[in-house]
Amino acid sequence: MTAILKVAVVGAGGISRRHAEAFASTGRTTLVGVADLVAENAQALADQHGSKPFKSVTELLAAADPDLVAVTTPPGSHAEIAIEVLAAGKSVLLEKPPVLSLAELDAVAEAEASSGGSVYVVFQHRHGSGAVRAAELLAGGALGAPQVAVCETLWFRPRPYFDPEWRGTWVGEGGGPTLGHGIHQIDLLLHLLGPWRTINATAVRLDRPVEFEDVSMASVIFESNAVASVINSLLSPQELSRIRIDTTGGSLEVNHLYGYKDADWKFTPAPDAADAWTSSAGEDVASSHEAQLGRLVDDLLAGRTHDTTLASTRPTMEFVTALYASALTGQSVRRADLVPGHPFYQALNGGIDQTKLSESFAP
Ligand SMILES: NC(=O)c1ccc[n+]([C@@H]2O[C@H](COP(=O)([O-])OP(=O)(O)OC[C@H]3O[C@@H](n4cnc5c(N)ncnc54)[C@H](O)[C@@H]3O)[C@@H](O)[C@H]2O)c1
Repeated sequence: MTAILKVAVVGAGGISRRHAEAFASTGRTTLVGVADLVAENAQALADQHGSKPFKSVTELLAAADPDLVAVTTPPGSHAEIAIEVLAAGKSVLLEKPPVLSLAELDAVAEAEASSGGSVYVVFQHRHGSGAVRAAELLAGGALGAPQVAVCETLWFRPRPYFDPEWRGTWVGEGGGPTLGHGIHQIDLLLHLLGPWRTINATAVRLDRPVEFEDVSMASVIFESNAVASVINSLLSPQELSRIRIDTTGGSLEVNHLYGYKDADWKFTPAPDAADAWTSSAGEDVASSHEAQLGRLVDDLLAGRTHDTTLASTRPTMEFVTALYASALTGQSVRRADLVPGHPFYQALNGGIDQTKLSESFAP
């Protein structure tokens, strides 16, 4: 008999459909419940998948018995819901951004340590075949040593995008393109290049009706001494997501928007260097929720740990934290500085009064 993973979804808005469809497409899950504070939202998604609606995660946990709960609510509610699910001994899949601060991340990690459940995070761009190959080849040195990188999230979000109450606010969305959008490419960059050491950053609000930035830029130095330039924008009509890594062996580049295929990756060997990239090509898996959630279901049913754990995303949250800390203080920030007690450990706005923050984000 095929083993079946019992899954549930909390937050039945836009992205929840991708979760329900990705789980269903594995043929090895059953959706045991859908919870949303808005009853019609829960009902609609539950109806589409022959599942049961609930008014809250609390009701869902009391009545259904999921192995895994996907949390697809706005980011401001992720930590609290994750802690409740972990207290019930169940595993959690958090949409990005997993939490709004390092303090929240550590609180969820503490709840995980005393739970039978585990915490995983959606970073689907780690899971396409291009990134899987790039990570393996870079880690093994087959593509040479990384020296210079560029990481660009040039996206466009018009003013009406910020109409929902939770968007544009520290409390609901948690931050601008640094946290909510660029985090996908930032996470992939760090996944490929390893630990970073220092960040110098700028963040400005040029146009959108938000409490934080609509553009940010950072200069980064890695532990390996590689350097990177990172830009995150919501003001860029011709949209692009790009990572380029120049190594001693060549230039590796991926150009895409919201997901890549193998054809979006290109490796240009340095003169006289071998091309380990082309010869490593295998099955073409696009980066998507289907790719990551399919692998997650396989891992959990096989009793393996899925590799995109909460712990594995800490460097990404540290990076985002440091970018805000540097932009808002005008100082260079070291990863080693981001310990409890650091003003930006508790909150990405550093606990700074909103009037002062508005001045800080003025160009
Ligand atoms: N990985 C990706 O590519 C990707 C893409 C889009 C969105 N996201 C992430 O998914 C999350 C949700 O985004 P969205 O665009 O689907 O939002 P949305 O506003 O469309 O949907 C959120 C839903 O959650 C419900 N909700 C709010 N608080 C709740 C609570 N405490 N308990 C139960 N339900 C609650 C709302 O009623 C709403 O139905 C965010 O973290 C976002 O960043 C990820």
